[in-house]
Amino acid sequence: MASINRLLLRTGPCILLFFLGLFVGRYFLSVNFPDEWDSRSTRSQAAELYVGGVAGNREEQYLLSPNEEDDRLLKDLAEAKERISRLEKKVALVENRTPKRYPFVNFLNHRAKKRILVTGGAGFVGSHLVDKLMMAGHEVTVVDNFFTGSKRNVEQWIGHENFELIHQDIVTPLFVEVDEIYHLASPASPPHYMFNSVKTIKTNTIGTINMLGLAKRVGAKILIASTSEVYGDPEVHPQPETYWGHVNPIGPRACYDEGKRVAETLSYAYAKQDKVSVRVARIFNTYGPRMHVDDGRVVSNFILQALRNETLTVYGRGNQTRSFQYVSDLVEGLVSLMASNFTQPVNLGNPVEYTISEFAAIIRTIVGNNNPIKSIDATEDDPQRRKPDISRAKLHLKWTPKVPLREGLIRTIAYFRGVLEKTKLSQSVIYYPN
Ligand SMILES: NC(=O)c1ccc[n+]([C@@H]2O[C@H](COP(=O)([O-])OP(=O)(O)OC[C@H]3O[C@@H](n4cnc5c(N)ncnc54)[C@H](O)[C@@H]3O)[C@@H](O)[C@H]2O)c1
Repeated sequence: MASINRLLLRTGPCILLFFLGLFVGRYFLSVNFPDEWDSRSTRSQAAELYVGGVAGNREEQYLLSPNEEDDRLLKDLAEAKERISRLEKKVALVENRTPKRYPFVNFLNHRAKKRILVTGGAGFVGSHLVDKLMMAGHEVTVVDNFFTGSKRNVEQWIGHENFELIHQDIVTPLFVEVDEIYHLASPASPPHYMFNSVKTIKTNTIGTINMLGLAKRVGAKILIASTSEVYGDPEVHPQPETYWGHVNPIGPRACYDEGKRVAETLSYAYAKQDKVSVRVARIFNTYGPRMHVDDGRVVSNFILQALRNETLTVYGRGNQTRSFQYVSDLVEGLVSLMASNFTQPVNLGNPVEYTISEFAAIIRTIVGNNNPIKSIDATEDDPQRRKPDISRAKLHLKWTPKVPLREGLIRTIAYFRGVLEKTKLSQSVIYYPN
């Protein structure tokens, strides 16, 4: 018995040490060398998770051999790369359409910053006015039904924190909180306003009532874009604002001419009855970049014909006169009129007068060709003489047009050339403000 006890005392610690060694060794190896111990199972689990995530078929993975798993992984990786590259292309396309850098915008503090609504702000004149107001640092909301206007005219501002674009017809009421309203929404060229003459009358009457009503409700100042057409085929030359006009009330142009005359009448009725602060601009022929290329007016007609090497067509004998104002001059005049205290109608136009034949010859020279100029039948009710008397604007707004015809035409022809050169619809010709 004593000998057994002695044996246990001697061998017991050795046996204990042996089992302890086994336990520690196993633990040490499993912590530090998991890949060597279990690399196959770890890898297949990763493969299973990855492929399962992409293909969504876990059960299938258990059936794949290691080589098949590798092939499957490579195939999915290639597919993912392909998808990412397609997405990158789409992102680049979107980035190209949305300018990342906006034109410079002035900082205005909350007292100086105004909330301004521009109806028809996606049109030719409206978009230039929007540029001016945005660059001055104001908050600008455009409402437009895109009948003749286009998002492209204002795309330089889309996404800017001071800019908002509302797609709406102003014949339906609009509720926004604003300090000033420039009411420009109306087709302006004869083919456009004659296209749906009833709609033109509604826009200039119901639409104007809606805008005057809005101005009344929110206490905003409102400027109405009227036109030299309120003078009709004038018997007084040049035309001062005191001239009442010579308009055929049932002729083809009446929807526009009379529509604008009613818009003026409505403005002064709201001013008198509801104390709305109104401004009325009688705008004469205006031209510049972003004009509708197919508006059928003399400037776009001649430029397109000259650029396309076609005969320049003159309605009638070509001795009727027009005066042409560059769009930046008009915009200066509109902003000065809004800022002024003058509430009577004001002519805004360039008083330098040209016959239509002279004008055709000037465009031909700038474009640099010698196309023939041909007379065709005169249009009905086409005014024979047009020239603004701008004494009021000079006196009350200290405004005179500055851009000479040749300079304005060079810029406009460059814009039209760009429009004609674009080959795909997706290529936009963005005219950025200076
Ligand atoms: N361009 C000129 O030579 C000229 C001359 C005299 C007066 N005007 C006046 O100036 C304003 C602007 O003229 P423009 O040359 O920029 O014309 P435009 O056709 O380029 O712009 C008019 C804008 O009003 C929008 N519009 C039309 N009807 C609308 C409606 N019912 N609701 C919402 N939006 C509508 C059009 O989509 C367009 O964006 C017009 O009121 C026009 O009568 C212009």
